[in-house]
Amino acid sequence: MTERKALTTFDLLNMKRRQEKITMVTAYDAPTARLVEQAGIDLILVGDSLGMVVLGYETTVPVTLEAMIHHTKAVRRGAPHTMIVADMPFLTAHYTPDEVLRAAGRLLQDAGAQAVKLEGGKEIAETVARLTRAGVPVMGHIGLKPQTVLQMGGYRVAGKDDDDRNALIEDARVLASAGVFSIVIEAVPETVAQMITDELTIPTIGIGAGRYVDGQVLVFHDLIGLTFGHQAKFVKHYAHVRETIEQALIQYRDEVREGLFPAPEHIYKL
Ligand code: KIV
Repeated sequence: MTERKALTTFDLLNMKRRQEKITMVTAYDAPTARLVEQAGIDLILVGDSLGMVVLGYETTVPVTLEAMIHHTKAVRRGAPHTMIVADMPFLTAHYTPDEVLRAAGRLLQDAGAQAVKLEGGKEIAETVARLTRAGVPVMGHIGLKPQTVLQMGGYRVAGKDDDDRNALIEDARVLASAGVFSIVIEAVPETVAQMITDELTIPTIGIGAGRYVDGQVLVFHDLIGLTFGHQAKFVKHYAHVRETIEQALIQYRDEVREGLFPAPEHIYKL
């Protein structure tokens, strides 16, 4: 069997040209990454959703660069043959030029990502340009930007009125000129995502952005149904793993209490 090769940014461009949909899923640890790679998903995102999904924070704001490096390394070990995009955490896009290059460098060189993702529009264009000039592949992220939750006072669909829509389209244009190889568009009306997708030559990856984008991304735990609390409208559970785990834990508890576990087949004999 020939070994799978990680896609490159050029492969993604060609997929857009050929109108082949791109698939991306988040992962934060080695076993998950392994499953995502085995399933033939095109890209793994080590998202800073890590903070909320795995680390128990209320928002993505407390996620540090060190945490992103730690988890990206684990994902790389689990998925050696998949393109990995690692999120640059809160505020890193506004670091000084040297610091931002160093932060991206650590995600690529120490942690093993092939690209970084930065949340923001034209206000981060200079940072994006600096990174891409230095050879760092950058994915943009516009629309709902979870890192701005404290400023926005919550999570809201973006691009609903004319001004907001025009600003989003402008952000996408400016980021593309600054050199991003792809843009995530989160929680915007489908017509807005479609306009951006039709205009840009680089692929768009939607989450809550409807059908007319070049690819889709979902958070792994949402996809498998291992979630707690409010669910965004755009989430689809392809499995119901939370119920399965709850059931297994209850059965284990009961079997230990009733002396049914361990059974003879689980016991070493002399
Ligand atoms: O952090 C993340 O998981 C993300 C996706 C929701 C796109 O940015």
